[in-house]
Amino acid sequence: MDSFEFNKVIGALLGTVFVVFSIAIISDSIFAAPVPEKPGFAIEVAEAEAGGEAAGGAEAVSIATLLASANAEAGATVFKKCAACHTTENGGANKVGPNLWNVVNRPIASHEGFAYSTPMKDFAQGGSVVWDYDHLDHFLNSPKGYIKGTAMGFAGVKKPDERANLIAYLRTLSDSPAPLPTAEATPAAATGETPPAEGASAPAEAAPAAPAEAPAAPAETAPAAPAEQAPAAPAEPAPAQ
Ligand code: HEC
Repeated sequence: MDSFEFNKVIGALLGTVFVVFSIAIISDSIFAAPVPEKPGFAIEVAEAEAGGEAAGGAEAVSIATLLASANAEAGATVFKKCAACHTTENGGANKVGPNLWNVVNRPIASHEGFAYSTPMKDFAQGGSVVWDYDHLDHFLNSPKGYIKGTAMGFAGVKKPDERANLIAYLRTLSDSPAPLPTAEATPAAATGETPPAEGASAPAEAAPAAPAEAPAAPAETAPAAPAEQAPAAPAEPAPAQ
């Protein structure tokens, strides 16, 4: 093989490579694969029509209920995420965040010597709003979601049971821990007070509302009845001859 022939072979190879690459590039630009707007498959599931009741029940187990079975020791472990910025002992220093001794039911943004952000101070409404269990629950779930613009740079503790453990731990940071909320307290108060108070007017309005929806039921009872009557009669008279 002289050098001229060798050049031809190399030339042919390079030419082939060039053509293959060109085709790949051209076909890519012709047959562009569209990227779906959302990755994955859309699976359409009808949402439960029942609405209010179902959603409320499933979505939110209240912090009061969760606290009843929360574990403060497990919460102390969760608190390791907070310890970089918060001290917990009585009289402890403010670090990046304020000291958290006695934080449960403490007025929001009230720890002395700490420069709170304006959004946090606004939220506190001059000290009339306290860190009750609900506020703590929502704030620790999503600090910046609950108090927009807070200086607390922390994403949040998303798992409700972990959060309940954490709050149970915060509750122990006190000489006399705040009472646990009773799960039944709120609903009992809500139903108990209003209806009996105005005896005369209330029942009058209630009456007409009820019967409107009644007629739906009877449709199913009809076919059941005739089936039982049939077998009773024919038994005896046939064999007489
Ligand atoms: C990166 C630092 C940082 C981390 C981590 C952090 N915090 Fe904070 N925290 C702050 C700052 C800063 C503030 C003050 C916020 C403001 O003024 O807006 C604050 C405020 C608070 C407050 C309000 C206190 C008051 O006196 O009103 C509570 C309660 C709180 N943090 C609890 C926690 C808990 C519980 C965790 C762990 C899950 C945590 N923080 C993690 C920095 C942090």
